[in-house]
Amino acid sequence: MSSAATHEHVGMSSSIDITRIARDIAAIAGFSEEPPATGYSRPTFSAAWAVARDYIIAEAAKTGCRHRIDAAGNVHLRPAGLAWETPAWLSGSHLDSVPTGGKYDGVVGVVVPLEVLRAHPQAPLELVLFAEEEGTTFNLGMLGSRIWAGGGATLTAADLAKLRNKHGQSPLEAGRPHGVDPSRFALDKLNAAHYRGFIEVHVEQGLAMWDQNMPVGVVTVINGRRQYACTITGKPNHAGSTEMGGRHDALAAFAEILWQLEQGALRLNAESAHTVLTVGQLFVRPNAINVIPGEVVFTIDFRAQTAKMLDVGNRMIAADIEGICHRRQLTFDLQRTEALPPVPMSSAVCRALRTAATSLGISLPDVASGALHDAAILAPLLATAMLFVASKDGISHNPAEFSRVEDIALAARILAATVTA
Ligand code: HGY
Ligand code: MN
Ligand code: MN
Repeated sequence: MSSAATHEHVGMSSSIDITRIARDIAAIAGFSEEPPATGYSRPTFSAAWAVARDYIIAEAAKTGCRHRIDAAGNVHLRPAGLAWETPAWLSGSHLDSVPTGGKYDGVVGVVVPLEVLRAHPQAPLELVLFAEEEGTTFNLGMLGSRIWAGGGATLTAADLAKLRNKHGQSPLEAGRPHGVDPSRFALDKLNAAHYRGFIEVHVEQGLAMWDQNMPVGVVTVINGRRQYACTITGKPNHAGSTEMGGRHDALAAFAEILWQLEQGALRLNAESAHTVLTVGQLFVRPNAINVIPGEVVFTIDFRAQTAKMLDVGNRMIAADIEGICHRRQLTFDLQRTEALPPVPMSSAVCRALRTAATSLGISLPDVASGALHDAAILAPLLATAMLFVASKDGISHNPAEFSRVEDIALAARILAATVTA
C-alpha cells in the first residue's frame, strides 16, 4: 500500500483525532493474557477481557455516555441524552480475541465508534461490545450477538450449558459475574424499533484491499460458514509389537483425510474464490509416544460465498471421511456444529456509507468479507453493513496483524458523517 493512498485525506481538518485512536488500540493491546511478542489473547469473560471492556466503558463515560450490560454480557453505551428506546444507529464489534491473535481484529470496530462519540457527543449512536465473537473461548462463535438477537430462543441456555472454556466453565458460569443471566434472555432481546441500522467497522483480514491500495471499503456480502467436529475411532495398540498391516491407526487416517480435504479445497478455491477449508484443532488420544492412536477429534471450518458451494463442500467433507474410514476399517462421527449462510448487507446502509464517503472525498469500493462477524447475526433483524479497513499483507489472527491508523481514522470519519447525516 503506498503511503499516498492513505495520507491524502488525513491532512483535512476533522474532529476525529487519530492520536486518540492510536492510544486506544495500544491501551487495549496491553490487556492480554500473553506478552506482546507471543500475541494478544483476550478470552471472553477473562480478567484481560474485563479490563479491556472497562477501559471502553470509562472512555465512553468521559464523552457523557452511560452503559448497560445485557443478559448475554454484551455492553451497550449511549450518550446520556439518548434514551435507550430512541431509534439510533448501532455500531460496535468485539474485544475478545483468538489465542495469540492480533491487535486490530474486533478492536478497530470498537474504538472507531468510541472516537465518533468523542467527536460528536450528541450523535444518535449506540456503541455495542459483543461478548464472545470469535468462538475460540467456548467453541461456538458470536455467542453474545446470537443470544441478544434471538432472545435465547435460537441459542438456548441449555445449548450454552454444554459449552466449556479452557477452565471447564460454561458461558453461563464464566459469564455470570459479567451479567450473563439466562432468566433475562427473552426480556433483553434486541428490539429493532430502537435502531436505525447497524454498522460494524472491521479490519479486512484479507489481501484484496491492501494489494489494491484501498484504505477503506464497504462490505456488500459476508461469506457463509459451516463448522464441524469429527471423531475418528480406531484401535489403540502397542507401537512396537503391532505389524504395520494390522493397525487401525486413527491419526494415520486423519492425515490421509486432511491431505484429501486440502486437495479438494484447492480445487474448489480455484473454481470459486473465497472457498476455503481449515482444520484448526486436533486432539489425539491417548497421545502417547508408544501407543498407536486409537482416536482423534478434529474440527473443520469451511467457508464459501454461495449456499451452493457450501453444499458442495458439505458433500466433499462427508465423502472423504467416509471413504477413508471405510477402507481403513475405522468408525467416525461427523457433527456439524454451525451452519451460517452467506449474508448480503443492506443496500440502503451501504449507500449511506458511500454517500458519506463521497461527501468527504474518500473513495469507498465494494468488498466481500471472507471472515464472519456479528454483523452476520444482526443483518436479518437490522439494516446492516460493514466498513472495512485494509490489513497489511492480509494477515490476521496473528500478532503481526497491522492496519494503518490513518486508514482507521478514515473509517471513523465516514462513520461519523453517516450517523450524523
Ligand atoms: O472466524 C471468523 O471469521 C471471525 O474471525 N470470528
Ligand atoms: Mn473479528
Ligand atoms: Mn477474528
